[in-house]
Amino acid sequence: MKFETLSIHAGQQPDPTTGAVMTPIYQTSTYVQEGVGRHRGYEYSRTANPTRKALEDCLAALESGEYGLAFASGMAATDAVLRLLSPGDHVLAGNDVYGGTYRLFERVLRPYGLDFTYVDASDLSQVKAALRPETRLIWVETPTNPLLGITDIAAVAELAQARPTPPWLAVDNTFATPYIQRPLELGADLVIHSTTKYLGGHSDVVGGAIVVRQQALRDRLAFLQNAVGAVPGPLDCFLVLRGLKTLPVRMDRHYENAQAIAEYLTGQAMVEKVLYPFLDSHPQAELARRQMRNGGGMVSFVVRGGVEVARRIAESTRIFALAESLGGVESLIEIPAAMTHASTADSPIAVDPGLVRLSVGLEHIDDLLADLTQALGESS
Ligand SMILES: Cc1ncc(COP(=O)(O)O)c(C=O)c1O
Repeated sequence: MKFETLSIHAGQQPDPTTGAVMTPIYQTSTYVQEGVGRHRGYEYSRTANPTRKALEDCLAALESGEYGLAFASGMAATDAVLRLLSPGDHVLAGNDVYGGTYRLFERVLRPYGLDFTYVDASDLSQVKAALRPETRLIWVETPTNPLLGITDIAAVAELAQARPTPPWLAVDNTFATPYIQRPLELGADLVIHSTTKYLGGHSDVVGGAIVVRQQALRDRLAFLQNAVGAVPGPLDCFLVLRGLKTLPVRMDRHYENAQAIAEYLTGQAMVEKVLYPFLDSHPQAELARRQMRNGGGMVSFVVRGGVEVARRIAESTRIFALAESLGGVESLIEIPAAMTHASTADSPIAVDPGLVRLSVGLEHIDDLLADLTQALGESS
């Protein structure tokens, strides 16, 4: 079946007891057993829940995987992946990862004995040079948050596979979504999502997910999911499932609007640089076009005049709401250095304080362009 059909139907059948077309919110913590240990696949909702199972199966189908695992947040999903490792193991990560990912790696997991190196993952020679015998995991975001850098997933997978003990390749696919890019098809071992973003799509839920193909990986992650217990509630799973049904149409419109905004900003005197994967000026535009179905909904830009001007713009928009997060139907604007990526301040991966990040929503493009025009005008 095609992606658009899977996004509506995968993992879901009409409810066997009532015929309800939409998967019910199974708001229950426990399940009656016919005899000790004799049950219908559900014992306790930390271990498994039917609404969560429908979401997990749908996500697996959309990512061309075999197994999906849902978590209470993107960070909980990331943490579960890192718990596959042992003290002394080394992780090679992109140097432009989400600030919260960097914080988890450096402030929670390094003290537990994991070692991390950050490189520009769009440069394969840097990736190759930083691999060590004890590297067990390569962690990349592509496109990256917030610089929209692109990593060649297939090429990094090939580098990993060439090692005597191949490290796992994990791709945070939050920015692209499986509609735009499917890392498992390109050789990645694990795909991670903050379902809070485009998959949920309506800024009304926090969630995370992992998708894999190998059963051994799935079994270890399912053990961690149950043992650690950072699972999403059934209502949250329902909301993400509902969001997935419109993912393809939303992503096409996010892209149309974002591309138009990236082109508009490119022509503005106040704008020094626009970062958008499908702009011809993007250093990896050719790779982006090969690896991604479209350019996605995120646009970043650096303003002339630095942080003061950037802040004035972010505080002057009327439709673009000044807020963290991304991927909802509504447009958002933020200053990563002061907001989403504040935890990278003074670190080697700190972002330019004059960088503005837009999550371009589904409003009419004329209104969005008019809003940016007035904000740039007021801030000049
Ligand atoms: C690329 C990326 N990965 C992971 C996360 C973390 O997800 P959550 O906020 O759902 O924990 C975020 C959040 O902004 C993100 O942008």
